[in-house]
Amino acid sequence: MHPMLTIAVKAARRAGSIINQASQNLDLLNVSKKSHSDYVSEVDGAAEDAVIKVLLAAYPDHAILAEESGHRGDEKNSEYQWIIDPLDGTTNFLHGFPKYSVSIAVKHKGVLSHAVVYDPTNNELFTASRGGGAFLNDRRIRVSKRTRLEDCLIGTGIPFRDLTHLDAYIAMLKDIIPRTAGIRRPGSAALDLAYVANGRYDGFWEIGLAPWDMAAGCLLITEAGGLVGDLEGNETQLESGQIIAGNPKIFGQLLQVIAPHLTPALIEVQQSARSQ
Ligand code: IPD
Ligand code: CA
Ligand code: CA
Repeated sequence: MHPMLTIAVKAARRAGSIINQASQNLDLLNVSKKSHSDYVSEVDGAAEDAVIKVLLAAYPDHAILAEESGHRGDEKNSEYQWIIDPLDGTTNFLHGFPKYSVSIAVKHKGVLSHAVVYDPTNNELFTASRGGGAFLNDRRIRVSKRTRLEDCLIGTGIPFRDLTHLDAYIAMLKDIIPRTAGIRRPGSAALDLAYVANGRYDGFWEIGLAPWDMAAGCLLITEAGGLVGDLEGNETQLESGQIIAGNPKIFGQLLQVIAPHLTPALIEVQQSARSQ
């Protein structure tokens, strides 16, 4: 394992044990509301602090983008940036619904290089390094081989905070439902993307994600032989927050079903992401 991935795994496991311990006593947690339907607990902060401590102990000069504490370090002069979601699926966590994860990725000169998504409930550790393939625990993983959308299990995220694109999303969902074997919305985008990487899902799409929700999952998917892009198939997902992923056959079919439902507002988000 690449030394940088080893450090990322150590950080993810450290966060995972904080999360697991806190899950035993959910009633005791201090929870605050960031905005509409956006809750944060002291566990998010503690897990993030633990991740950052491990990373900076090994790499004090690296820059960081983390959900709870934002930007840190010299982004202009550091070749490396870590992108961290310490607890992806906070709503699930707070409800004792066991679908949440820790997501850590690092970019080298702007290119995703290593990724970890860790599910502390099931002790499932997804890892990838650019050019080295993707793994679940110690086993190599690959995207599914299904070729017909009608046989496919598709993951998604339903908008619940920013409802700007809700109507467009519902139109997509309505069109996709009858064409597939089933849709799932567990509530941790990082884990959803990991599930595309190991073939539990054949495809996935969501609108309005943040870079820390997706960065690690994107590398897992490409290293597992899948494709990932925005709703038009371009590589702006980390900037636009709009994402489609899947095995190479299903990726194209999902793009086709979604295309008629792209509103000018959605296209505008992707266009401005492209010009960034
Ligand atoms: C959320 C989860 C969820 C997705 C939301 C994200 P959080 O992350 O990934 O699946 O639908 O858009 O914000 O807030 O629990 O870290
Ligand atoms: Ca998240
Ligand atoms: Ca989070």
